[in-house]
Amino acid sequence: MTTLDAAFAILQCPSCGDPLTLADDGATCTQRHHFDRARQGYLSLRAAHKGKGAPASGDTPEMLEARDRFQSDGFHDEIAAAVLAAVPADARGWLADLGGGTGWYAAQILDARPELHALVLDASAAAVRIAARAHERLAAVSADVWSGIPVRDASVEVALRVFAPGSAAEVRRILAPGGTAVFAVPHADHLRELGHGLKLMKVPAGKADEVAASIPEATLVSSVEVRRRVELTVEQALDAVFMGPNAFHQDRAKVAAVLEGWKAPISVTLAVTVVALQVP
Ligand SMILES: C[S@@+](CC[C@H](N)C(=O)[O-])C[C@H]1O[C@@H](n2cnc3c(N)ncnc32)[C@H](O)[C@@H]1O
Ligand SMILES: [Zn+2]
Repeated sequence: MTTLDAAFAILQCPSCGDPLTLADDGATCTQRHHFDRARQGYLSLRAAHKGKGAPASGDTPEMLEARDRFQSDGFHDEIAAAVLAAVPADARGWLADLGGGTGWYAAQILDARPELHALVLDASAAAVRIAARAHERLAAVSADVWSGIPVRDASVEVALRVFAPGSAAEVRRILAPGGTAVFAVPHADHLRELGHGLKLMKVPAGKADEVAASIPEATLVSSVEVRRRVELTVEQALDAVFMGPNAFHQDRAKVAAVLEGWKAPISVTLAVTVVALQVP
């Protein structure tokens, strides 16, 4: 049985909330909603779009490549170590990585926590295509976490959200009794220096306190700040800008022209807090 087959034990229909069962070419529920399994090994659990605005499409391949280079250069290693430390050493069962991208964090956790399986959910088809190959104990699903997480109530031991959006009530809903929520959120000064002379999106202040209080009945297990200054080349600084939502509003050539005017190396602050909460 593949990990995606095993994941049916925790998946639910994004349209009606009924349990999903395996079908020849994908998944189906008792109400006969049908979802396709992509050739690349992930399941597409996108419900018909209801809310306002365009449906979430997630990160583009160019953003994923920029993030991959930045992560491969080691700049997120301390964040990954803090995220791993927040996952209980004896964790077993399922971890759901919400907005989990290419599975970079989930795969490292699986290496260190042999009793865990992971489900990566992300709106970006390009990301889940990569995540589907990231680890043998990892299943990948394309889903919009804002329109309800297609995971059954009280079914996962660990819910992870690293630099990604989503509702705390949904995190609470999917966590099993005694389960752990792990959030990694940037501080207002994260990558702040790159904003000088560029109209980049600002990180709002107070996100760490906000997530620490986001599940009222949970206990705060740990809150660890990872803060460090790094020296970046112009290319690395460009990746830092274009791996995130600024990519939707900025032109790489224009930002490159500004950054080339600065004297490299470009010294930048990384400031992230990793919060772990345990639900009763
Ligand atoms: C900044 S990236 C972080 C990815 C990953 N957690 C990491 O740190 O490597 C944010 C991720 O959230 C995803 N995303 C954005 N909106 C989403 C939504 N409504 N539903 C699911 N995923 C979403 C994006 O596609 C992207 O992969
Ligand atoms: Zn259904």
